[in-house]
Amino acid sequence: MSSTTPITKAVIPAAGMGTRFLPATKAMPKEMLPVVDEPAIQYVVAEAADAGLDDILMITGQNKRAMEDHFDRAPALEATLRDKGDTKKLDAVQYATGLGDIHYVRQGQALGLGHAVLCGKQHVGNEPFAVLLGDDLIDARDTLLTTMLETQQRLGGSVIAVMEVPEENVSAYGVVDAGGQDKEPGAEVVPVHRLVEKPPVEEAPSNLAIIGRYVLHPAIFDELERTPPGKGGEIQLTDALQAMAAKPVEDGGGVHAVVFRGRRYDTGDKLSYIKAVVTLAVDREDLGPDLRTWLKEFASGL
Ligand code: G1P
Repeated sequence: MSSTTPITKAVIPAAGMGTRFLPATKAMPKEMLPVVDEPAIQYVVAEAADAGLDDILMITGQNKRAMEDHFDRAPALEATLRDKGDTKKLDAVQYATGLGDIHYVRQGQALGLGHAVLCGKQHVGNEPFAVLLGDDLIDARDTLLTTMLETQQRLGGSVIAVMEVPEENVSAYGVVDAGGQDKEPGAEVVPVHRLVEKPPVEEAPSNLAIIGRYVLHPAIFDELERTPPGKGGEIQLTDALQAMAAKPVEDGGGVHAVVFRGRRYDTGDKLSYIKAVVTLAVDREDLGPDLRTWLKEFASGL
């Protein structure tokens, strides 16, 4: 089932209302919240570009303008920076424009992640594609997406990313039953037998949580069209993947998980977001040294 046609397309659902961050997200998508000095969505688009995916489809909702403007040229601003000779800022401004070919489609109704992905059907066509969720940032030093793309090309079907989380947190995620007798503990790629969206702790099949990276076989689109609303009354990608896991690989079925043990920053709620900003800022050459010193002083006074 291995395929040699490279995967080039990424779908990024970005239509959420961002209610957890109100009022900051009243007039601006949550994807534009700054993580240090870049909007969160830019990290995700850069990750896709780094993995060779230069055809990006954003699934947007209301308030999409700020995102479109961010990834577009800004001639007046660029001219001002050029006139001032501020090449550093000019490069920073132009960086977002050069990341890839970005397309937009609107979701219209917020019917769930599965529905958001289905909105990409026409653009994606009949080829495997990646899905990146903006709430999860993966450290640029880790190569999760590249490993997932290679795995899909080698094994066919669909590939998800999972991570061990503390048991008490499982009900915030899709959770999988994965692995097998032939797979030694610590294996990087494991077959997935069952996926459950946000189960109660006592019903979770494991503590392996689905994180926001997927490489999907295009057969997922037909499956999503048949998928009834699930958890929370929404069309769940996890439910469609559960159906795909049971299908033969010749029909685009089969699901494998890459077990991620690297650095992931969750920006989906306020506390995690603040931790992500501090963690990334501490690693920066321009901010890190002063921030570390200040953090130590600050923490000693708590
Ligand atoms: C979505 C998925 C869930 C997954 C999570 C990862 O949920 O439905 O299976 O574990 O992303 O971030 P959401 O966080 O959008 O509610």
